Amino acid sequence: MANVRLQTLAVLCLVISFLSAATHAQTGLDKVPKGMRANFYNVSCPRAESIVKAQVRTAFNSDKTIPAALIRMLFHDCFVRGCDASVLIDNSDSEKLGTPNANSLRGFEVLNAAKAALEQACPRTVSCADVIAFAGRDAVELAGNIVVTNWLGGRRDGSLSRSADTLTELPAPFDNFNTLKAAFSKKGLNQNDLVTLSGAHTIGRARCGIISQRIWNFNGTGRADPAIDPSYVTTLRGLCPQNAPGNRLNMEMSTPTVLDVNYYRDVNNRRGLFESDNSLRTGPGAKLVAQFNQNPGTFTPAFVNSMRRMANIGVLTGKNGKIRTVCNVA
Ligand code: HEM
Ligand SMILES: *[C@@H]1O[C@H](CO)[C@@H](O)[C@H](O)[C@H]1NC(C)=O
Ligand SMILES: *[C@@H]1O[C@H](CO)[C@@H](O)[C@H](O)[C@H]1NC(C)=O
Repeated sequence: MANVRLQTLAVLCLVISFLSAATHAQTGLDKVPKGMRANFYNVSCPRAESIVKAQVRTAFNSDKTIPAALIRMLFHDCFVRGCDASVLIDNSDSEKLGTPNANSLRGFEVLNAAKAALEQACPRTVSCADVIAFAGRDAVELAGNIVVTNWLGGRRDGSLSRSADTLTELPAPFDNFNTLKAAFSKKGLNQNDLVTLSGAHTIGRARCGIISQRIWNFNGTGRADPAIDPSYVTTLRGLCPQNAPGNRLNMEMSTPTVLDVNYYRDVNNRRGLFESDNSLRTGPGAKLVAQFNQNPGTFTPAFVNSMRRMANIGVLTGKNGKIRTVCNVA
């Protein structure tokens, strides 16, 4: 009798622990990586995060598009060799020179200024990877007019930077939903992260060269992509004449410096700028696009959550990696 009871109890315990494991199921990126914590430099460099924030604020005060540049910088750093500041390294074949980055990534001077100020205050202490991640967080706060708490620090810097990695690791604006989803999944990010983080395209600027085929000669047809709202094609053609691939246009035109849900309204209205944006309009991503449109308040918390996850990709912590003194020198 006691034995049966014991067995029942054991089975019950097993079931309960299974259930709670399922409800608390955390994928890798939701866990705090070993060696990371919020307020990481509280002892070694207590002003670290405020020093970075001051530089980002100063840059923002003279250029409201700076948050876009810094949020994208974090994305391009984290997807290529993890969040290790490999994107900042200069060499003859660096990530900076890769097609997705060359003449495109912005904001290097803000990060360099922050790092210089940090080396003054606390030499050899704060990694460039954390500078990018802190600046990315500050950028979300400024563009979203929100406060983001408990942002992790403790990343360390990598030593390798190769242009070819940008082509295999970063998604392309011509990708369809399944290809985008696979690129995110390779990093541990899911479909919701894909739809949510694509919302970053509600701020910032793109070069006309990226969309010129799409609006002038889609797939060799001599016409625009039929998936674009015709009146938007007219607007885009006005901003992007065929001979000006280097012109830049706002990616979301009504509130181009505000982290809001207007991107999702555009996507719904066939006004997604890239084919990748348009791919969220139909298919598996459409449900979350609709949710953000119907319940805009759910967007920024979701965005912050997905940014936290992205900022944990492939981090070097503890004794791994190093602390660079100058961010562009490995
Ligand atoms: C889903 C796949 C994505 C693709 C294919 C993509 C592609 C692009 C492209 C082609 C540009 C224009 C670059 C230029 O012309 O110079 C751009 C800009 C931008 N992207 Fe994405 N992106 C994606 C996801 C993301 C994510 C996850 C983020 C951040 C969370 C992000 C943030 C940005 C921002 C803020 C800009 C504007 C940058 C600026 O103003 O300098 N993108 N993206
Ligand atoms: C720094 O943070 C750690 C972990 O949160 C905490 O244990 C420690 O007391 C803090 N130190 C100071 C000086 O605030
Ligand atoms: C592009 O053109 C090719 C060949 O004409 C065709 O097979 C393909 O389906 C077209 N793609 C799109 C997206 O229209």
